[in-house]
Amino acid sequence: MSGTRINWKPNYELGIEDIDFQHHFFLNLINRLSNELRMTTSQDRRSALIAELNAYARFHFISEENIMTAAGYPELQAHHKQHLDLISQLNSKEAMLQLDKSSRRAEDIVDFLVSWFVNHTTGEDQLFADFYHQQNYR
Ligand SMILES: [Fe+2]
Ligand SMILES: [Fe+2]
Repeated sequence: MSGTRINWKPNYELGIEDIDFQHHFFLNLINRLSNELRMTTSQDRRSALIAELNAYARFHFISEENIMTAAGYPELQAHHKQHLDLISQLNSKEAMLQLDKSSRRAEDIVDFLVSWFVNHTTGEDQLFADFYHQQNYR
């Protein structure tokens, strides 16, 4: 058994309650996916685990984009494209995992998710948070 794949860091916090809550959940889900993918080679089980993460990611993106719309965020379209890009990369990685059952492929998905989460949260999501807080304090 293994420990935690990724730990929460203070710079992941954006100061927007709903988004932070969802990011915490997303990170916990990546950790659980990492542990559970390693414990099985069943394709059905792996698909079900990835489907859970995929569904939560889509929920989070819709929720985040709704908050951006309400805030009048001018970069919404570009941000939306990044979200779509994650979902399409996740779908193609899952398809590759179906063809190649190796645990290396499963770990590849987890590595991809971890680096995507860190880069996107501290990059693009942080840019929105900067905008959001400027609007609030104007
Ligand atoms: Fe985002
Ligand atoms: Fe996000």
